[in-house]
Amino acid sequence: MTAIAPPSDPDLATPPPGWTARSSRLLSGPAATDALARAVAPRLAPGDTLLLQGQLGAGKSHFARALIRALLGIEEGQGEIPSPTFTLVQSYDGAGSEIWHADLYRLSDPQEIVELGLDIAMDDAICLIEWPDRIAPDWPARAVCLRLETLPGLHEGREATLIAPEGSDLARRLLAPMIRP
Ligand SMILES: Nc1ncnc2c1ncn2[C@@H]1O[C@H](COP(=O)(O)OP(=O)(O)O)[C@@H](O)[C@H]1O
Ligand SMILES: [Mg+2]
Repeated sequence: MTAIAPPSDPDLATPPPGWTARSSRLLSGPAATDALARAVAPRLAPGDTLLLQGQLGAGKSHFARALIRALLGIEEGQGEIPSPTFTLVQSYDGAGSEIWHADLYRLSDPQEIVELGLDIAMDDAICLIEWPDRIAPDWPARAVCLRLETLPGLHEGREATLIAPEGSDLARRLLAPMIRP
């Protein structure tokens, strides 16, 4: 699979040149989003960045929280995973590395990611970034994008699409959970 459909929302950025769609799957409901996050978690390594793209309400935070819980080994309802909507970033001490959760919706300038320390964190933390559109087209070459979309006629579920640059090792690692979580 190669062609990437342009995002349905003009607020969403088209991925940089050379990034292609690798795999798409239907997430029938929130529980399927959780299951995908649990399957992705053990395949992530320090230095991996997941760009979570999708309109408001697409499920980006839902996926990020489930992934953070899986990485921290905590159950739903245990421990708080606060939204980084206003702080822009939240970080956690994971087992093998820090985990950074960012929401760039309110980023005023792409340079701000340097002030937030997010650019440095991407070197050796696991970073989950909502609204990567705010830093497009400067998506880190080592990152992959997981696009979450509601589809016309799809009342409940979401479509998840893995989009990555050529030769992405992370995309290769995430292919199995994308196919069968
Ligand atoms: N696969 C799915 N199908 C339907 N609803 C989902 C799915 N995954 C998550 N949701 C729900 O979508 C809603 C919005 O999710 P949220 O993570 O806040 O969106 P975003 O961060 O993208 O704005 C939540 O109520 C969440 O439970
Ligand atoms: Mg959100």
